[in-house]
Amino acid sequence: AQYDLAIRGGTVASAFGVIRCDIGVKDGRVAALAEAINDATTIVDASGLLVLPGGVDSHCHIEQPEANGSVHEESFISASTSAFAGGTTSVVCFTQQFKGGGVLDMHRAYRARAATGMLDVALHQIISDPTDVVMNDEVPQLVADGVRSLKVFLTYEPLHLNDEQYLRVLATARRHGCLVTVHCENYDAINWRAQALLAAGMTAPKYHAWSRPPVVEREATHRAIALAEMVDQPIQVFHVSCAEAAEEIARAQARGVKVWGETCPQYFALTAEDMARPGFEGAKFMCSPAPRDTAEHARVWGMIQRGTLDVISSDHCGYSYGGSLGKKQNGDGANFDVVPNGIPGLAARLPLLFSEGVSKGRIGIEEFVRLSSTNAAKLMGLYPKKGAIAPGSDADIVLWDAGKRVTLTNALMQHAIDYTPYEGTEVTGWPVVTFRRGVMVMRDGVVQAEPGTGQYLPRAPYPMVAPRGVLANGFDAAPVL
Ligand code: URP
Ligand code: ZN
Ligand code: ZN
Ligand code: ZN
Repeated sequence: AQYDLAIRGGTVASAFGVIRCDIGVKDGRVAALAEAINDATTIVDASGLLVLPGGVDSHCHIEQPEANGSVHEESFISASTSAFAGGTTSVVCFTQQFKGGGVLDMHRAYRARAATGMLDVALHQIISDPTDVVMNDEVPQLVADGVRSLKVFLTYEPLHLNDEQYLRVLATARRHGCLVTVHCENYDAINWRAQALLAAGMTAPKYHAWSRPPVVEREATHRAIALAEMVDQPIQVFHVSCAEAAEEIARAQARGVKVWGETCPQYFALTAEDMARPGFEGAKFMCSPAPRDTAEHARVWGMIQRGTLDVISSDHCGYSYGGSLGKKQNGDGANFDVVPNGIPGLAARLPLLFSEGVSKGRIGIEEFVRLSSTNAAKLMGLYPKKGAIAPGSDADIVLWDAGKRVTLTNALMQHAIDYTPYEGTEVTGWPVVTFRRGVMVMRDGVVQAEPGTGQYLPRAPYPMVAPRGVLANGFDAAPVL
């Protein structure tokens, strides 16, 4: 046969728009889009379904080691199962750096772990200790191995960088053609408020949100952008939760600064009220920035519609509610400041975005594809291998039933975590088949894929993250030594 696989009769969200056509797949790639493709070894009927590029989730914490010696509960195998169940086929995860340690050995070990799964994986590198050796000797070797994004935290003990350290990471990224992704919250302001709350006996999960109001996010977003503008280094602001932070991004974009904004379903589907549930239940919704309120959800949608927030990732974080590695690791009822931050959302990401976005009329199918797949692939240097249905692209394809109504449960997430923050949430629109590089890896919720078949996605230089060439006084302050 001419093709290994034909996907017939669907409505295809291709790189050229939404069209009714068949798809021919050969050797794991899209080989043809045509009116009718019959000459294929396997034929899959997609009539009545949307045919979408597999989700690209550019912000996932999987099997991530922690400073206390533990490792996130979600393994690359369980995460792959969960991703395929939810229509995601590629992820970008984080290699950790511990203070006082290097990054190269961590990268090599983590890359080997990523190869145990079924998902295709690219890697960000967290920089928590930008020493001379790390920045000048190790980062160039990471870049040679296909790492093109450095992640920094402006808050969290022990990961946060001060402004001088952040500048150093920006300058290093500029020299090597990397994107810098930034967690924007003001470390000192959060600490100060948290200590005051705890001293007042306000220790429950809901006070996590009180410790970090939108203003701490807006301030850090402004500062992150201002310093990046001074260094002339492109950045992506991670997990923007509120319009006032997004407005900082919009203003900089209007000046021509290369800054992009990401948001996540928790910022339009969860609220601070969820963290006020009885007992310790609120810990299930605890992430940073904190979920806001429904008025803020509407403003976040406005910023998505305006294009200021153009990537929707999960920020998936593998902490169960129970167990020694989970939300209660420091005790059931522990003070909010020692509950691990982050929530699982790998499988729920696409259904929540489709349901809240497309089914409720806020965005169209093409916008859904850009937000869930194409834009992340472009910004991370993975396009057009990933993020599109086009001749030559990997045949990562999801068949989507736009009318299917589903009540989210933890079982449907198929992850290794013991809960989902979206338990009981009703969605309209659901993935029914997932192909990864032309192989059917999920059908009707049944995931079948061989561990170890995931590929590492090395990234080559790409123009989207090139500096603009706009330096204050024309002076490049990037230290060379
Ligand atoms: O609370 C969160 N978001 N935890 C995951 C790590 C991060 O900040 O992205
Ligand atoms: Zn510190
Ligand atoms: Zn973060
Ligand atoms: Zn994260």
